[in-house]
Amino acid sequence: MQAVLDYLKRNQARFVAELCDYLRFPSVSAQPQHKKDMRACAGWLVNHCRHIGLDARLCPTAGHPIVVAKTPRLAAPKRSEGGKPHFMIYGHYDVQPPEPLELWKTPPFAPRIVGRSIYARGSMDNKGQNFAHLKAVEAYLQTGTPLPCDLTFVLEGEEEVGSVSLAKFLKTHRAELRCDAVVVSDTDIPSPKHPALTYSLRGIIAFEITVRGPARDLHSGIFGGSVENPAMALARLLAQLRDAGGRVTIPGFYDDVAPLSAYERKQFARLPIKDCDLQKLLGVKKLFGERGFTPTEQRSARPTFEINGLTSGYQGEGSKTIVPAWARAKITCRLVPNQRPAKIRELVCRHIKKICPPTVRLEIEAGHGAEAYLVSPRSREAQAALRALEAAFGCPPVLMREGGSIPIVNDFKKILGADSLLLGLGLPDGNAHSPNEKFNLDCFAKGQAMSAHLWQELSRT
Ligand code: BES
Ligand code: ZN
Repeated sequence: MQAVLDYLKRNQARFVAELCDYLRFPSVSAQPQHKKDMRACAGWLVNHCRHIGLDARLCPTAGHPIVVAKTPRLAAPKRSEGGKPHFMIYGHYDVQPPEPLELWKTPPFAPRIVGRSIYARGSMDNKGQNFAHLKAVEAYLQTGTPLPCDLTFVLEGEEEVGSVSLAKFLKTHRAELRCDAVVVSDTDIPSPKHPALTYSLRGIIAFEITVRGPARDLHSGIFGGSVENPAMALARLLAQLRDAGGRVTIPGFYDDVAPLSAYERKQFARLPIKDCDLQKLLGVKKLFGERGFTPTEQRSARPTFEINGLTSGYQGEGSKTIVPAWARAKITCRLVPNQRPAKIRELVCRHIKKICPPTVRLEIEAGHGAEAYLVSPRSREAQAALRALEAAFGCPPVLMREGGSIPIVNDFKKILGADSLLLGLGLPDGNAHSPNEKFNLDCFAKGQAMSAHLWQELSRT
């Protein structure tokens, strides 16, 4: 084990240079013009995995390819079936669109190191985090240190767009991927002094609402005042969906939400995040959220209704006097444990239809959806993960819930029967999904050490 840790220490500079190579691919899964870049990034990963000693292959899908890489000589598929324990490491090489580009201090796909941070789209979400695991496994393979378990990396290219192909892939490759647990580093920790095991993620439902008025944009002087303005109708409709206390007004929305226990609320209160720091970090004038809950509770354990995008009418320079023909909103709701996506989707649609004025035509298009995730932080695997975190970070880890979603972890449970250990390496100021995304190089190094310790801890019988 010491040989592994020494190897990691010795090779940090090279690891950072390699991570820069990985970050140069504009692997934006949502944008069709990047299809070739997605393929190129996956190809680079396969080569890199082979180079460090893994058996790797590229698996084409109807969407973007999946990279599967295993430690050599995988024996029986699962500990319970007489083999070594088998763990999956899941990550994604796709990234969010980098726009708006003008807000980046340097181009999103030209990685830049400033102090202890590496700036690039995807540096934290998620290339830097999955690369830390690859480097830990490289250290075992290249120092000839025996691994106490078999490992399979599954690196997909559609996490940011709903993981549709991977969900199918899990079903067709169930036997090969059966494992004792899945390790996912795709969440945040409060600070490098507070490594964390995340035991819950929020779920999500997505949809688009379009409100249509006149058959074409109209002269607002000639016709304005005699027809409903779709932008105004949509604004009024959306504004009714949340009250002044931050509560969603859709009937039944909160019916299934499990109340937070006093114990959990106490644990939340101990997390080292102050309201004033959060306010500063986010650049808001004042924090706002559901009354009766702290910001930590609001953003990790309470459901939300958010407008992600709002479009209508003329967006160019100067003015254009029209009544627009249509208005559209992109919406997501974050869900918490116990809320069923299909039911909430139905409640939301029914309510919107009910309150939509008769003067406009309403279209609701359903998008992706996923349940929330909740796993016991007391399991044997969770305890092993906590030991690995402490060994690598040198301070006691915290337990937390996170507000983001990783829909595929539900499929890991349903299809493979495996729980996910959420061992994030991101920091709250990492600008995930925002301009100037960055990944902390200390978290990168500590993440590698955490991964190295983790295989020992998880494999202890
Ligand atoms: N890494 C995030 C998820 C995340 C971030 C969870 C921080 C917890 C804390 C992931 O890449 C992501 O952005 N997921 C999407 C999923 C959606 C597209 C279905 C999300 O949460 O918006
Ligand atoms: Zn993301």
